[in-house]
Amino acid sequence: MEVLIQPNAEHAAMMAAWLIARQLRAQPDSVLGLATGRTMEGVYHRLVGLHRDHGLDFSRCRTFNLDEYIGLPPDDPRSYRQYMNHHLFNRVNIDLRNTHLPDGTAADLKAACREYEASIRRCGGIDLQLLGIGVSGHIGFNEPLSALRSRTRDKSLTPATRRQNAAMFGGNPENVPPRALTMGVGTILEARALLVVVTGAEKADILAQAVEGPITSMVSASAIQLHEDCKVIADETAASRLQGGAYYRWIFENEPDWNEARRALNTDDPGNAKTSAHRRAGGPHDH
Ligand code: GLP
Repeated sequence: MEVLIQPNAEHAAMMAAWLIARQLRAQPDSVLGLATGRTMEGVYHRLVGLHRDHGLDFSRCRTFNLDEYIGLPPDDPRSYRQYMNHHLFNRVNIDLRNTHLPDGTAADLKAACREYEASIRRCGGIDLQLLGIGVSGHIGFNEPLSALRSRTRDKSLTPATRRQNAAMFGGNPENVPPRALTMGVGTILEARALLVVVTGAEKADILAQAVEGPITSMVSASAIQLHEDCKVIADETAASRLQGGAYYRWIFENEPDWNEARRALNTDDPGNAKTSAHRRAGGPHDH
């Protein structure tokens, strides 16, 4: 695992988008595993910018999202399908037929989950899986006690998750669907590479447990420790409880492998950070 600590959420999003763009440029027909949530909005905003300003090509890539609420049809504005269309798919040159989310309205949910896994296999497996971490420690919607070998299935959401996601449902956790379909922890671990993005002080504890704590199904995100190619991008506030922070920073600053990323993102140039923060002020709504 590599932990890349970035000065703020803006830089964390830039770094994640840069790594996804690098994957797409190296392999234009990549299979990307995608995630939802507020953290990812900044990442998708950056990817849209890379498409618009630098011609990043999505025309051949295929995508599989981690999860979808049970009972929300794809045209429901609160569904993850609509989230993805709004934040990414409708703003880049992706073929919507190549984008997949679990079908939370299927009459036979178990069959839909089996078909989702089969469809990932038919595409040759996921090359790069993007992940956020929920306050309950979930990846996808793998709530505490999800088996570390679990596959795509239906899951009941914890009260903490329903509270965390209530904003999209008029602020009332009771309105958040109680169940969702989610890729399993085992499904996620089969991706060839994992890219975890975590920002904000409220994630500091759970990030420390996921990265440095014991591997336990009580914190599904701790399963990322089992993956041989996992990068975690955190901003300073989310990284504040990591015991190895100084070591992780040293690696990012000194490893030749990261020269290209440091140059591309110019993270140590405060002028650049200022410019991008300034751009963002008029940013997310200008397209
Ligand atoms: C949701 C999604 C997860 C996501 C998590 C974090 O519950 N199912 O895939 O990682 O929330 O969300 P946020 O970025 O809003 O904190």
